Amino acid sequence: MGSDLDEFVERVTERTDIYSVVSRYVSLTQRSGRYWGRCPFHNEKTASFSVSADKGLFYCFGCGAGGNVFKFLSLIEKITYFEAIKLQAERLGIPLPAQRTSPEEERRRREEKNLLKINELAQDFYHECLIKTARGEPGRKYLAARGITAETIETFKMGFAPDEWDNLFKSLLRQNFTAQQIESVGLIVKRKNSSGYYDRFRSRVMIPITNVFGHVVGFGGRILGEADETTPKYLNTPETVLFNKRNLLFGLDKSNRAINSSGAAVVVEGYMDAISLFSAGIKNVVATLGTAFTPEHVKLILRYAKKIIFCYDSDEAGQRATIRALPIVQEAGAEVFVIKVPDGKDPDEFVRKHGKESFNELIKNAQPLVDYRIEYVLEHTAHVTTDEKLRALEEILPVVAKIKNEVVRVEYRKKIAASLGLDEFAVLDAWKKFSPKTEPEKNLVINPTKNFSKKDLILRTAREDILRMIWQDTEMLHYLSAMLKPKIFPQVHQEIIEWLKTCAEQERRPDKLRAATELSEAANAELARILMDGTDAPRDTQIKVFKDSLKTLRLVVLHEKYYGLMAEAEKYISNDTAAYTKTVEESLKIKKEIDNLKGNPANCF
Ligand code: UTP
Ligand code: MN
Repeated sequence: MGSDLDEFVERVTERTDIYSVVSRYVSLTQRSGRYWGRCPFHNEKTASFSVSADKGLFYCFGCGAGGNVFKFLSLIEKITYFEAIKLQAERLGIPLPAQRTSPEEERRRREEKNLLKINELAQDFYHECLIKTARGEPGRKYLAARGITAETIETFKMGFAPDEWDNLFKSLLRQNFTAQQIESVGLIVKRKNSSGYYDRFRSRVMIPITNVFGHVVGFGGRILGEADETTPKYLNTPETVLFNKRNLLFGLDKSNRAINSSGAAVVVEGYMDAISLFSAGIKNVVATLGTAFTPEHVKLILRYAKKIIFCYDSDEAGQRATIRALPIVQEAGAEVFVIKVPDGKDPDEFVRKHGKESFNELIKNAQPLVDYRIEYVLEHTAHVTTDEKLRALEEILPVVAKIKNEVVRVEYRKKIAASLGLDEFAVLDAWKKFSPKTEPEKNLVINPTKNFSKKDLILRTAREDILRMIWQDTEMLHYLSAMLKPKIFPQVHQEIIEWLKTCAEQERRPDKLRAATELSEAANAELARILMDGTDAPRDTQIKVFKDSLKTLRLVVLHEKYYGLMAEAEKYISNDTAAYTKTVEESLKIKKEIDNLKGNPANCF
């Protein structure tokens, strides 16, 4: 950022009061030092959306949205962070600095708007053609035969690309767009042997594909009959500047509220499945666009809900796609379930035949990831000889070894042993190889409304106290790195700490404005939540709290190590005296450190 710009942002910030901005959109009431209201970012009956006027931050305990005033504006107006600053400047009558954006950037944005406009006009063209013209008749027939109602056609603005070579192209040219622009969004294709272009989509039912803001970024087109070798059943917009399948989930702009309020997203393979489920009343549904499920997709969903229910086709390809998607979602900390649609049907066929209630039954009985994985391996690999059994076990373990809850782990261990006909101890042995020593929490989204055990609560509080102290004084980072490894913190916290480190290295004070642009959405919201909880206690007290928190976490690490070593020692007791003695000695060292820490609070520095 240039200094003019810095100054501008500072001026807008100074004169902005978060309460008056937010109260334009949300009715707020005051309670215990904060303002409260119903969250505008998710559906709720009780007020869990809070604003702290003196800290200049908002946070919703229901959906985890949070940040400073510009973050709020950008979310509610669906604009970028910088556009939010500009909007607020306009409202306050503060003039923009002369060089607000580079001409290059300005041009890029204008062009992007043009391209979106082209897509929107194409959507209208196809839609009109479907519902109003004689050429649309084959499309109407096809959709009617699939049980798609006029209402659904309207909701998804479905359309029909007529069986003509360049009508869309000509119509867009008439509206003063260039061939090059139209080609760049994938609507037309260059002729091979002569000059000129032709419409990419012809004689297909058209499904506009929108981003989370509801802007049309691409299309999918289905042929009217069954597929043959020459024409693919579905044709999608190729990758363009607007259309990137890795980052897009079909339907998310329409289903995000339902995903948020139900706490789960149903993921299907095709947009026709998504449309079918949505119009049957299963509103929390999204579809991938003929690609594998990506980490970007998980992040999109985790903004709204923690639970992801896969409902891919029950054929072999669908099941393989499910298996491939699972580690990606598990890695991101989502709760994963799998629906297997009965009798070889896809979700669309199933819901049309059996209705919404039956589909809800499927959702209710969705299999947890681990069970699904076990079943899949048992169905797909031989497990008769001992070798085969052990190999099957190695397939299963990477997924189940990630289970954190000890009781659940033991249950699965028994279950796996029984289903493979293996000794429980053999399973346990193999299991250990896959268990990371101390699994950090990997939650992308921390749900503060969840019930925590007392121990969890103490750990959470400790982590947050530490982050607040470092925010105030990055010097304190030294103590932190001396006492603890990053992995004791969940991923979002690690991101915040890394960022604070960068601030310290560059000798700048961390501030909320930078946090909003430099941190991920999840980390920024989490930071806002933590900072809002801070007290204005005197520095002495804060330092004491900080030290105690470091100690608490350090003790947790030490205890884990200690018990780990004890368990290891037990294994050696009868067969390897040297290893036994060594392990016990190590464990005693740790015990000593524990006692020291416990006995003398000053010891941690
Ligand atoms: P399916 O063949 O399972 O489609 O492909 P479907 O949704 O059941 O389609 P209907 O019911 O026959 O109309 C699933 C998804 O794979 C992609 C599309 O995104 C489709 O929704 N796909 C499939 C393609 O991109 N191209 C194809 O030729 C086929
Ligand atoms: Mn289908």
